[in-house]
Amino acid sequence: MAFDIDMIKGVYARMAERVDKAREIVGKPLTLSEKILYSHLWDGNPNTEFKRGKDYVDFAPDRIACQDATAQMALLQFMQAGKPKVAVPTTVHCDHLIQAKNGATPDLKVANSTSAEVFNFLESVSNKYGIGFWKPGAGIIHQVVLENYAFPGGMMIGTDSHTVNAGGLGMVAIGVGGADAVDVMAGMAWELKFPKLIGVKLTGNISGWTSAKDVILKVAGILTVKGGTGAIVEYFGEGAKNLSCTGKGTICNMGAEVGATTSTFGYDESMERYLRATDRNDVADAANQVKEHLTADAEVYANPEQYFDEVIEINLDELRPHLNGPFTPDLATPVGQLGEKAKANDWPLKVDWGLIGSCTNSSYEDLTRAASIAKQAVDKKIKPKSDFGINPGSEQIRFTAERDGILEIFENLGATIFTNACGPCIGQWDRSDAKGDEKNTIVHSFNRNFSKRADGNPNTHAFVGSPEMVAAIAISGRLDFDPMNDTLINEDGEEVKLDMPLGIELPPQGFAVEDAGFLAPDEDGSGVEVKVALDSERLQLLEPFTPIKDESLMGAKLLIKAFGKCTTDHISMAGPWLRFRGHLDNISNNCLIGAVNAFGKKTNFVKNQLTGEFAGVPDTARAYKAAGIRSIVVGDHNYGEGSSREHAAMEPRHLGVAAVIVKSFARIHETNLKKQGMLGLTFANEADYDLVQEDDTFNFIDIADFAPEKQLTLELVHADGSKDVIKLNHTYNQPQIEWYREGSALNVIKKENVA
Ligand code: F3S
Repeated sequence: MAFDIDMIKGVYARMAERVDKAREIVGKPLTLSEKILYSHLWDGNPNTEFKRGKDYVDFAPDRIACQDATAQMALLQFMQAGKPKVAVPTTVHCDHLIQAKNGATPDLKVANSTSAEVFNFLESVSNKYGIGFWKPGAGIIHQVVLENYAFPGGMMIGTDSHTVNAGGLGMVAIGVGGADAVDVMAGMAWELKFPKLIGVKLTGNISGWTSAKDVILKVAGILTVKGGTGAIVEYFGEGAKNLSCTGKGTICNMGAEVGATTSTFGYDESMERYLRATDRNDVADAANQVKEHLTADAEVYANPEQYFDEVIEINLDELRPHLNGPFTPDLATPVGQLGEKAKANDWPLKVDWGLIGSCTNSSYEDLTRAASIAKQAVDKKIKPKSDFGINPGSEQIRFTAERDGILEIFENLGATIFTNACGPCIGQWDRSDAKGDEKNTIVHSFNRNFSKRADGNPNTHAFVGSPEMVAAIAISGRLDFDPMNDTLINEDGEEVKLDMPLGIELPPQGFAVEDAGFLAPDEDGSGVEVKVALDSERLQLLEPFTPIKDESLMGAKLLIKAFGKCTTDHISMAGPWLRFRGHLDNISNNCLIGAVNAFGKKTNFVKNQLTGEFAGVPDTARAYKAAGIRSIVVGDHNYGEGSSREHAAMEPRHLGVAAVIVKSFARIHETNLKKQGMLGLTFANEADYDLVQEDDTFNFIDIADFAPEKQLTLELVHADGSKDVIKLNHTYNQPQIEWYREGSALNVIKKENVA
């Protein structure tokens, strides 16, 4: 099942020469991120220095991982590419399509029945094309990758924004859209703008109630949700060395929440311990042979300001535990200061649920630290005031935690142990309480807390914290509880205090599992038949997109001017819509229904300029499409932040949208728009966003001259006949313009295959 040691040895064998060459070309000591990037160039040995934040570079990733929700569309696209097998080791993980309701056994049974068609499709495509398949219940993609595939110095891409989790094992691991993954599966280079580098120096040591999670909660508060955009965050310093490997994974995981391309740490003893504990002695031995290339040159960490574009220093001795939220993961508040903030903002102080686990925080260390708090509730006779839910990250961690009595501790508190899957982290939570209009509060150890993210309820205020803090807050039932200073009254009426958490980094008896849930593909999958029923509502074979004609960009209509935050959740909602991820036409019925229309400030309520009537966004887009009219989406800052799902680009494309014009983009979404053959443009003057009116018609007057580094000119024709002419920026290079001209990147791959 596991890693390909020969592939890893091959990476290490090439590393010394490539790193030396890169150092010579760059002319100075190298960061770890540069070593990994320069040793994974598509063209082999480095021969030119790349400008950070500017140059597009072709890379050759070592691995690909896909989760079930995004894999459907990725594999449907790969099937179109006409290749017999994937060119790079690839795995598919069934984790997003399993609802959390009654607990692991009944929930998994329901998922296996309701999503059988999709799971069977993914299993058969995997078998046919040489892809490793992790069954439903086997675990969450990033935990499984960390346990089995991540390796120091490697480069991987994954069709999920939290692919970055593998940075905990010293990888450069990046979340991409399915279309990017398809390129690499098809044996092509993967293109990325050479990232900027942010160095985070960790001094001191975490102790007491403070955990690795608090490092990233603090960083999120500093950088905000877009502060890491276009950058790799590289952690270093004594404080970094003293963190466990899985703690590093948590920090890297939530690097997605600051918009970072990825995050990583240099190889150290914590990684070696983790590799050996997860049955990968040969990887640890191989890494030890090249350890000088698996961390930055010493001079870099001695004088980081000279080598990073930005340096942040955090003293872990002074770091306090945080709770971030609600509704955004960068709203960081030290525990103990949340009460006042909650009262001022009218956030409910009563906490209804504490959720522990997910891909972010289900390590052995996490579970033991949280369990050490949970156990005190029983021992000290404190009746928990909130409900507990646990979703383990993998069958291996679940099995081990059960064997070691950890799950029993939570069960003694009445916790529901959900399937080893995403569940409440992705809106797949059939929550029986708090369904009405009433505000409610939950705390969880996941990574995202956008509105509706956990349970689909906009009134749920979700706060993110470490597993042990979640346990303490859930036991107290109060958001303003500070376990370091406050006491609780137990069932005997006594005042008791929770002792600080105690965790165990790795299981003393080793990890164990009976059935990890892995299916290796057939050596020769050519005879495997992939079935998609013609009348399926969940899967639909793809038709290639046709190129957007220049003429159609004269007279295009405004579909929606999105106001404020517009994440991929707003553009293509998850939750119940996950079931349609493999059916483009059906899932397009959720297109932009979560975005707030700047005119009227309502969601899914836009004007159809042809009729003057107001309707939902998908219906209005379909009406324009039926009339042969292209439509345009306008957006605010960091448009498309959040996940890597290319549905957020494919849906508007399918519905006839030609261009998305915004103040700024989140990186993955911008690339996804390009891949699908659309225009992703930014206002040269941000204030021009305000010029766009509800009845506007758009004329792209110089689209015929679309070229790299050349602004486009847009004429806005308003309802009263007046006009504004504005400039639009773009980041398309020549090959990306080719994608646009051919209708999609996939069309270009196919064309090259045929040629
Ligand atoms: Fe799943 Fe949530 Fe992680 S959706 S992959 S557990 S971020």
